[in-house]
Amino acid sequence: MSVLVTGGCGYIGAHVVHALQETDKDVVVVDDLSYGRPDRIGNARLYGADVAAPGADQRLAEIIEENKVDSVIHFAARKQVGESVEKPIWYYRQNLNGMINVLSAMAKTNAKKLVFSSSAATYGEPPVDVVPEDVQPMVPINPYGQTKLVGEWMARACEQPYGIRFCALRYFNVAGCGPVSLEDPAVLNLIPMLFDRLRQGKAPAIFGDDYPTPDGTCVRDYIHVSDLADAHIAALDYLDRDQRRYDAFNVGTGQGTSVRQIVDEVKKVTGLPFTEAVKPRRAGDPPHLIGDPTRINTEMGWHAKYGVEEIVESAWKAWQANPAHHIDTDGWQQQD
Ligand SMILES: NC(=O)c1ccc[n+]([C@@H]2O[C@H](COP(=O)([O-])OP(=O)(O)OC[C@H]3O[C@@H](n4cnc5c(N)ncnc54)[C@H](O)[C@@H]3O)[C@@H](O)[C@H]2O)c1
Repeated sequence: MSVLVTGGCGYIGAHVVHALQETDKDVVVVDDLSYGRPDRIGNARLYGADVAAPGADQRLAEIIEENKVDSVIHFAARKQVGESVEKPIWYYRQNLNGMINVLSAMAKTNAKKLVFSSSAATYGEPPVDVVPEDVQPMVPINPYGQTKLVGEWMARACEQPYGIRFCALRYFNVAGCGPVSLEDPAVLNLIPMLFDRLRQGKAPAIFGDDYPTPDGTCVRDYIHVSDLADAHIAALDYLDRDQRRYDAFNVGTGQGTSVRQIVDEVKKVTGLPFTEAVKPRRAGDPPHLIGDPTRINTEMGWHAKYGVEEIVESAWKAWQANPAHHIDTDGWQQQD
């Protein structure tokens, strides 16, 4: 039996392909290579296809049957919050049509286990600092987050009629790198943004230092991408069990790290004596966003192994190893 990984040539997908290969799983990847790179997936079989295209469900069903796939991990999607605000219809087409095609292919075939890449963006601006999965209300504040929440609803609706066993992993702030060849070239999140400013010889920026947090800067839950990859392996095992109580899990550490603490860690790891600039707050940045990991800890036995130090160190190592390929995405704000 094989595992189909959509978007397996991307940053997180490639780390998961790597983790699956370490457990000797047979892996098949579908990726349109819009952001991914084929050299990231070792000897996994690659099918170049757009999962969101009309009729892609038929092609996915053929791939599933040809490769005797029993499990699907669905990453293939667009992930830029700012871009989703500017192009909502396109985001709905990309992310929701992709999910519909994956579910349709699974409904027609024997692939009945689905792990879905969801996001802390589904929570919007939650009323608590440490967020449990069943927090109410759950109101995403941008089209990207909406596509993830609706994706969860669609998969849940397909469980009973088509026998699909599903779980959503809601990632918090993913960062760091495993093997340096799997680095995320997009400059969307805080750590690569800090590195990118340093590369340009400009002062890194902190957006707001007057939040109601211990040092006044926003607090987030940083998760090492290698820990996140292991959470997907744990999720596949969980779907094999008969007793499954939940279908949505936070993948976070339960620990908050402030923007200023990350800036200090970057100074320590890089050895560069920069002075950061403090700028006004950005719209839509909640002061705290930390995932309560109790459910994934107890139900799947998964715990994060790495802390912020390993995250920044591994990110810096990968950044230095790949000086040429960073994609300049200045202006987009990533919030998950
Ligand atoms: N990186 C994060 O911080 C983060 C946080 C929360 C959730 N997520 C979700 O995790 C998933 C993976 O994120 P990532 O950081 O690895 O992104 P990425 O852009 O590096 O990877 C996405 C991969 O999917 C492929 N792809 C995109 N649209 C496709 C399509 N229509 N058909 C086929 N392939 C397609 C791309 O070529 C790329 O290889 C996404 O669904 C994203 O929304 C990411």
